[in-house]
Amino acid sequence: MSDLWTVTEHDFDPTRQRHKETVFTIGNGYLSTRGAFEEGYPRDHRATFIHGVFDAVPIVVTELANAPDWLPLTVYLNGERFSLDTGVIEAFTRSLDLRTGVLTRTIRWRSPGGMGASLVFERFTALADEHLAYIRCSVTPDFAGEIEFRAALYGASDNEGAAHWLRVAQGAHAIPDGPLPIAALQTRTRSSAIDWAGAVRLVATAGRRSGHGYWDADNAPTLTLRMKAVPGKVVQVEKCVAQFTSRDLAADLVRAAAVTRASEAPGWKAALTAQTRAWAAEWARTDVVIEGDEEAQIAMRFNLFQMLIAAPRHDDRVNIGAKTLSGFGYRGHAFWDTEIFMLPLFTYTAPEIARNLLNYRYHNLPAARAKARGNGVEGAQFPWESADTGEEVTPTWVPHFADRNKLVRIWTGDIEIHISADIAYAAYQYWRATGDDAWFAEKGAELILDTAKFWGSRAEWNADEERYEYRDVIGPDEYHEHVDNNAYTNRLAQWNLETAFEVLTWLRALAPDRAAALEQQLDLSEERLAHWRDVADRMHLHVGETGLIEQFDGYFRRQDVDLAAMEPRTRSAQEIFGIEGCNETQVLKQPDVLMLQYLLRDHYSDDQIRANYAYYNPRTDHTFGSSLGPSIQAIVACIMGEPDDAYEHFIRAARADLRDVRGNAGDGIHGASAAGTWQAVVFGFGGLRITPEGWTVTPRLPRHWTRLAFSFFHRGQQHRVDLRPEGA
Ligand code: BGC
Repeated sequence: MSDLWTVTEHDFDPTRQRHKETVFTIGNGYLSTRGAFEEGYPRDHRATFIHGVFDAVPIVVTELANAPDWLPLTVYLNGERFSLDTGVIEAFTRSLDLRTGVLTRTIRWRSPGGMGASLVFERFTALADEHLAYIRCSVTPDFAGEIEFRAALYGASDNEGAAHWLRVAQGAHAIPDGPLPIAALQTRTRSSAIDWAGAVRLVATAGRRSGHGYWDADNAPTLTLRMKAVPGKVVQVEKCVAQFTSRDLAADLVRAAAVTRASEAPGWKAALTAQTRAWAAEWARTDVVIEGDEEAQIAMRFNLFQMLIAAPRHDDRVNIGAKTLSGFGYRGHAFWDTEIFMLPLFTYTAPEIARNLLNYRYHNLPAARAKARGNGVEGAQFPWESADTGEEVTPTWVPHFADRNKLVRIWTGDIEIHISADIAYAAYQYWRATGDDAWFAEKGAELILDTAKFWGSRAEWNADEERYEYRDVIGPDEYHEHVDNNAYTNRLAQWNLETAFEVLTWLRALAPDRAAALEQQLDLSEERLAHWRDVADRMHLHVGETGLIEQFDGYFRRQDVDLAAMEPRTRSAQEIFGIEGCNETQVLKQPDVLMLQYLLRDHYSDDQIRANYAYYNPRTDHTFGSSLGPSIQAIVACIMGEPDDAYEHFIRAARADLRDVRGNAGDGIHGASAAGTWQAVVFGFGGLRITPEGWTVTPRLPRHWTRLAFSFFHRGQQHRVDLRPEGA
């Protein structure tokens, strides 16, 4: 049986470099580092992103600053610099061990001058101590002479051109038990003034040393080790880097902290033991076993790994961006992707991570209130794109995808308002799944009540139709802008308002002081509550007699396009019809209505879901529309008893980044898709349903799966589910 815990490649294709850097990203919930090479390669997109380290940038407001580079480790074979763009690559393998988070690259290389060597680079970012990262390099030469290693910290990282860092200080710090000092660097972001400090330790662990040194190179303090080269004899060095930012400690303490941590850090072997133990604990609660489908098994673990390395363990003031911490796409900004696609994974497998992410929204309530106020409404209106402060950071204009000289107005930050209900929904789900009443009374309730206040205030009364409406919005399906009464938005707003009453009743009974405080703080007068009741009761919901829900006012009158007849297609419907043209069709970027029925599953009969699935599934741009859709589509197909369809959707989501299905994996992992595959497997194929009475599973395994096993937490207790096909 092949190894189902490893992502491997057996050759190096420079044209796929950007994609592969994303795939081979490693991280530990504090930072992530793309899979660029230690020694560099022309036009690589090397990057390390640290949670919360944002800096200002024009147009998109702020972005995660590509942190100073801890990777540089260059190797010289008798004075010739090792690099894959010169010489001859005789063998190449790169593999990511998902079980331990260790990335290994094995190369057999011959230099232009004829020096041959086998080189092995291994690296990991420590899960057991999130400030530490390690590289180990082993070189077996087939020549005699000298091998030199240069290990640096590089301070002038940029974001594909945009510079964020100014050097503060650098230097060497002697340590008692080594010939080499610790080299340190401190830099500061230009406008957010966040200090970063790194310290590097370099030691030889095999071979004979012939010299060493420290270079105070400008913005790149470097340690060097020269080793005797003996044919067939391995030489080995370990680079250990400690990093801190002024988000962790006071700015004047970060450098000393990094130096101390680097000098006291365990060596590779002990650190790897701790790493293996820490990852084993992660997998014990998160792993999903799929038998009968090796591709799905590896892809599932890969997607889970990508989510686990992006998940903040010790910080509740950061969110996970749409591209996690693995690429420049979306600038590190977070969307509804977190609450609807990622949160369920964490709520059910690692509730304390889910709580951290929800706390991020809680801490940002002041900014959400300010956004509502700015729009002339009350309550909390969360930003469509969110970064460090919780203010709206959606760019207003961006260059057109086909013609960079044209600008396109981006409306999502103005009118894609469903995110406020999505956050309320996630807070409620977390509460129900965990039973974390203390958190809910202190924080969750406020999220739900203040978003309800927003919905009450934003609703418009249509006197002719005698109903409440939300006009001029964008639903999850962003192919349609400026629509009235998007079904997803209206129904979730109604859910938010109705849930607010449930929350108030609960609070008044169980935490009366907190209830009284919130009623006063949020001005929950009798009059306001009566208005909420009225809005919820008379919300425009689009439910027709057949159960088919019109996605928004007038959707059915838009041009119907036979997407199937356009296959094979290589471009999105929006590229084919143009932004305005696509708006006039019924083609969907992602299926709003199905999404809604999935979230509020208990409110719809199977027949109602079937009617909508039959209508919207063929009208959705599955391959080139949103990457968020397929995993949810897979669940709905499972509910419909369509296992083959479900598998097709699932595997599209599972492969999104490994196979670069959309051609943009180089920008970073599609986080919502990655986390969505967990929902597809657990709630779709596993058919897990959790109700106040308990939980049940209705397995609907793809035909070729022989086993599906997973575990989840419900109210503090871990449950294991192990499913085999019927009759097995
Ligand atoms: C999708 C949104 C999503 C965003 C970030 C967009 O293309 O339409 O639903 O939130 O990407 O992933």
